Amino acid sequence: MISLSAAIIFIIVCIFVFFGLVVFLGAPYVPSHRKDVKRAFEYFAINSSDLLVDVGSGDGIILRIASRYGAKAVGFEINPILVGISRLLSWRDPRVKVILQNLWLAKLPDETTIVYAFAVNRDEGKLIALLQREANRLNKPLKLLCYASPFKRITAVDTYEAYHLYIFQPLQPKNA
Ligand SMILES: C[S@@+](CC[C@H](N)C(=O)[O-])C[C@H]1O[C@@H](n2cnc3c(N)ncnc32)[C@H](O)[C@@H]1O
Repeated sequence: MISLSAAIIFIIVCIFVFFGLVVFLGAPYVPSHRKDVKRAFEYFAINSSDLLVDVGSGDGIILRIASRYGAKAVGFEINPILVGISRLLSWRDPRVKVILQNLWLAKLPDETTIVYAFAVNRDEGKLIALLQREANRLNKPLKLLCYASPFKRITAVDTYEAYHLYIFQPLQPKNA
């Protein structure tokens, strides 16, 4: 039988691995401020015609708030502990879905209208490439709402408080 101390050590190792090693794959877990999110969703008019995708969805706070505004919401999250917590917190909400997946390998759902990212500057290039690739593949414009300092390589079409909105137009294969 597994002793209590072995179980505690196992849990600590899991927490260290899932929360610590994620820095090699993307932004570490820090939740967006709920009040900032609500103000931004009102300003950017998130509504029932939206499917919002949170890339690196943490505890799912963005998904739950988007759902309250009537939107469907999908989260990609690599940390299984956070996936479990966010599924638990939204288990009765049919508009919210959380997928355990590395966001850099993710394909966005066809109905995606807006992508939310609490981005770190280090990931700017990868995030831009992901959005452009998916706008091309889906052959439609995609909005990217970033909560962080503005990107250096592209210009926001709108800025509200700590949020910057970018739009990616689908490119023809020769321009893609
Ligand atoms: C700064 S937190 C943002 C959480 C949430 N989006 C919010 O705004 O409250 C970044 C999240 O991205 C997750 N993450 C980092 N790299 C990832 C990757 N490659 N694939 C999926 N999730 C990732 C982390 O585990 C963390 O929960």
